[in-house]
Amino acid sequence: MHSANLKILHAPADLQTMADAWRRSGKQIGFVPTMGALHEGHAALMRQARAASDVVVASLFVNPTQFGKGEDFAKYPRTLDSDRERARAEGVDVLFVPDSAAMYPTGYATFVDVEGLSSVLEGASRPGHFRGVATVVIKLLNIVKPHTAYFGQKDAQQVAVVKRMVADLNIDARIVVVPTVREPDGLALSSRNVYLDAAQRSGAPVLHRALRAAAERIRHGVTDAPGLKAEMADMITSASSGVVDYLSVAHAETLMELTTVSTGVPVLISLAVRFGTTRLIDNILVDSNS
Ligand code: PAF
Repeated sequence: MHSANLKILHAPADLQTMADAWRRSGKQIGFVPTMGALHEGHAALMRQARAASDVVVASLFVNPTQFGKGEDFAKYPRTLDSDRERARAEGVDVLFVPDSAAMYPTGYATFVDVEGLSSVLEGASRPGHFRGVATVVIKLLNIVKPHTAYFGQKDAQQVAVVKRMVADLNIDARIVVVPTVREPDGLALSSRNVYLDAAQRSGAPVLHRALRAAAERIRHGVTDAPGLKAEMADMITSASSGVVDYLSVAHAETLMELTTVSTGVPVLISLAVRFGTTRLIDNILVDSNS
């Protein structure tokens, strides 16, 4: 285990000073941005960062600008003590835990909008969400100065938005995407799973089954995207109390919705489904070549 002495930093300037020193001494900085409530999915990001970096920084900040009115900002799980222990166990060297005033001081006025990609799917259901994500991610990259930053495939659209921003704004960091970690029954790990009651929890694995079934149909040559979405909707509603927010069969990079799945086009099948007040997302990538 790497870092028996995990350091906790709160001030952006302290971390910037430290990052400058690491860079001067030729150290590779790996970075895992999180909102805390750490689970095995975050641990997988940390392990990958640990294996490839000299220094690993993780951030823990429930970013208010990416939550809409009426969303779960206030009740988002905050579990600093167990997060600290998990970060330590995964060999994180520095845990950056800023407060809102440090990240958005009085007079704060700058936001990053990644056009197009931000307004579909999650962005259509959660206006302003990706503006908040892009803004906090560029701030964190400027504070941590990582060579490589690690994101989960579970938030596929966030990955697309961050990659676009990093390319468009010439940000000198590599973005690595880590596969979704799942429960044995297929449910994607999410900090929001704790909100599910027993019946919702036992119905929720149908999301992954529906995604896999659609991916399988594409691999077998089915090209009718609306038909695939109808089949997924049937599967989900007949096996659970889930209420579909959206189902999407889209180009994996542009996120443009497809009507026909063409050979050679990378496809992202994604969904958002509500179980009571809990909204779960999941996705699967399929290469229609294969
Ligand atoms: O994926 C998350 O947890 C958040 O969106 C991120 C990237 C930490 C930004 O707040």
